[in-house]
Amino acid sequence: MKIDTFKVEEWFNKYEKNSVYDLADTCVDPLTIDELLIIAGNKQKALEEIFSQKLNYGAIHGSQRLKRAIAGLYENQKPENITVTHGAIGANQLVMLSLIEPGDKVVSVVPTYQQHYSIPKSFEADVKMFFLSEENNWLPDLEQLEKNVGKDTKIICINNPNNPTGAVIPDEMILQIAHIAKQSDAYILCDEVYRGLNHDGNPFSASFADIYDKGISTGSMSKVFSLAGLRLGWIAANEKVIEEINRQREYNTISVGILDDYFAAIAIENKEKIIKRNLEKIKIGKEILLTWSKSEPQVKVITPNGGTTAFIRYNAPLSSTELCKKLLHETGVLLLPGETMELDKYLRIGYGNNFEQLKKALEIFSGFLKHI
Ligand SMILES: Cc1ncc(COP(=O)(O)O)c(C=O)c1O
Repeated sequence: MKIDTFKVEEWFNKYEKNSVYDLADTCVDPLTIDELLIIAGNKQKALEEIFSQKLNYGAIHGSQRLKRAIAGLYENQKPENITVTHGAIGANQLVMLSLIEPGDKVVSVVPTYQQHYSIPKSFEADVKMFFLSEENNWLPDLEQLEKNVGKDTKIICINNPNNPTGAVIPDEMILQIAHIAKQSDAYILCDEVYRGLNHDGNPFSASFADIYDKGISTGSMSKVFSLAGLRLGWIAANEKVIEEINRQREYNTISVGILDDYFAAIAIENKEKIIKRNLEKIKIGKEILLTWSKSEPQVKVITPNGGTTAFIRYNAPLSSTELCKKLLHETGVLLLPGETMELDKYLRIGYGNNFEQLKKALEIFSGFLKHI
């Protein structure tokens, strides 16, 4: 089946290795195994368990311990409502493989992770891209959304908190979106890979899986738990949907790695400590970014409220791809062009990592902006 090039991944593949200052990354400083076991406070016992572990296949849909921990991230989920996947990327793909057929009507809220429109397009679904706007603080205009969702819409794909904008949909609005979907009996696939990283108040937004029978939530260890190297994610949905997904999954996954499952369970059981660590880091990075933006007349930043990225508008006579290539070539600073996320004149910045580099790279970027 033909599929469009995944533009963000292509950008990383081509340019990440040439960068000196990587501001395109979306992870909070990744944890080492040592750091994880120290946080969990059970290092010796864990090491014994790891060393004596036979490297067989793991529990097929994820260990009971892990599924119980994942269910605990939600209000209304049980281990039977969860299936474990190869990252959130595997989770999103499995949901779409299971539910979307040629001709199905899909509404995808953009900007977002490209899977949410390119995979359905590759299945010859009829995909409508619903664009968020800066004027609306990157939140969906519900009247417009309602007009775009028809009686025959099969699924709405959305991402909350949003990559790249860092916008967090308020819980009341999540309920209203579910109401719009319900009128059409449509599924909602919400990519909640940044859920747990709201900057203020409760770090967890309401999940569509908890508040809507046809709501499907995907999540993972990559962002919230700083463990992207585990390649471990999940899907939470009603049991009938999970059964359908597991039928596809048999052809795709068998089980995730037994050590990935083990480390993920330990991390989620220690969620408060890891999330506190990550939110502290995000706060420092965000402060650096916002202070810089105030003194930089050529950019405008809508303050992100969740996740690890901001989507900044710039004023310069170059497309975002041209700007990013020139910036990288001349200075070694790597940003992500908005064009890879379907919106030119914007740039994505990740700010959860390496603050000295972040400060220095933003200074360099300001110098660059003066001369183009
Ligand atoms: C919105 C979104 N969904 C899914 C993914 C994939 O995450 P994972 O590493 O869990 O496969 C990413 C990674 O950047 C992402 O930003």
